[in-house]
Amino acid sequence: MIKLNNIHKIYNAGKPNELEALKGVSLEIKDGELVAIIGKSGAGKSTLLHTLACIDGFDEGEYYIDEQKIQYLSEKEYAKIRNEKIGIVMQDFALIDDFTVLENVMLPLDFASKKKANPKQSATEALQSVAMETMLHSYASKLSGGQKQRVAIARAIVNEPGILLADEPTGALDSKTASEIMDVFKALNAKGKTVIIVTHDPGIAGQCRRIIEIADGVIVSDQTNE
Ligand SMILES: Nc1ncnc2c1ncn2[C@@H]1O[C@H](COP(=O)(O)OP(=O)(O)O)[C@@H](O)[C@H]1O
Ligand SMILES: [Mg+2]
Repeated sequence: MIKLNNIHKIYNAGKPNELEALKGVSLEIKDGELVAIIGKSGAGKSTLLHTLACIDGFDEGEYYIDEQKIQYLSEKEYAKIRNEKIGIVMQDFALIDDFTVLENVMLPLDFASKKKANPKQSATEALQSVAMETMLHSYASKLSGGQKQRVAIARAIVNEPGILLADEPTGALDSKTASEIMDVFKALNAKGKTVIIVTHDPGIAGQCRRIIEIADGVIVSDQTNE
């Protein structure tokens, strides 16, 4: 379970360009939920996702994953939480172009504190779950956008995190491919992962059971569709 309690995030604190991007966000997300975070550009969606992902710290409030209190203590500590508990997928895939599909997905295994007995097999299994196991040795640079995003999802789940976060994961894809990628997220959610997707696409958000809207750094609506 994820729990945010009155989270504030300030960029450039104390400087003339100081900006409060999150103004007291409180939120509970249970294990196994499929959640969309929507809102206008600049609303604070990415800031919220980066906070959840432990990419960025926050300035006030409390954050818990399961029973663990998440605090920025050191970059090493933060990296450990990211590695073990959270997978993240970005709009631009962020693959290493001159690595193969398999090499890209094996990369996070190098940083894991819990080592896999057979890293190659773990990576291959992650790629199976996104239907990319037939392209293990293709270079990332040669893939289509949809294939790249599948590989990025495999990389995000290879350490078996409970939580999968995605920031506009279909933003760079055509609508047919976007819908296929959404099917991948739904399948992973059906297998038990908590999936949180930032999107401005109503078609994507509409496929999520819960839709949270953020505006100007606060949650303005939180709806669950039965
Ligand atoms: N690294 C940063 N430094 C300073 N301001 C930032 C930074 N990232 C985002 N912001 C500002 O914080 C606000 C929220 O941004 P963001 O979370 O990226 O919104 P969204 O993802 O909803 O478009 C915006 O006003 C943006 O300009
Ligand atoms: Mg954003």
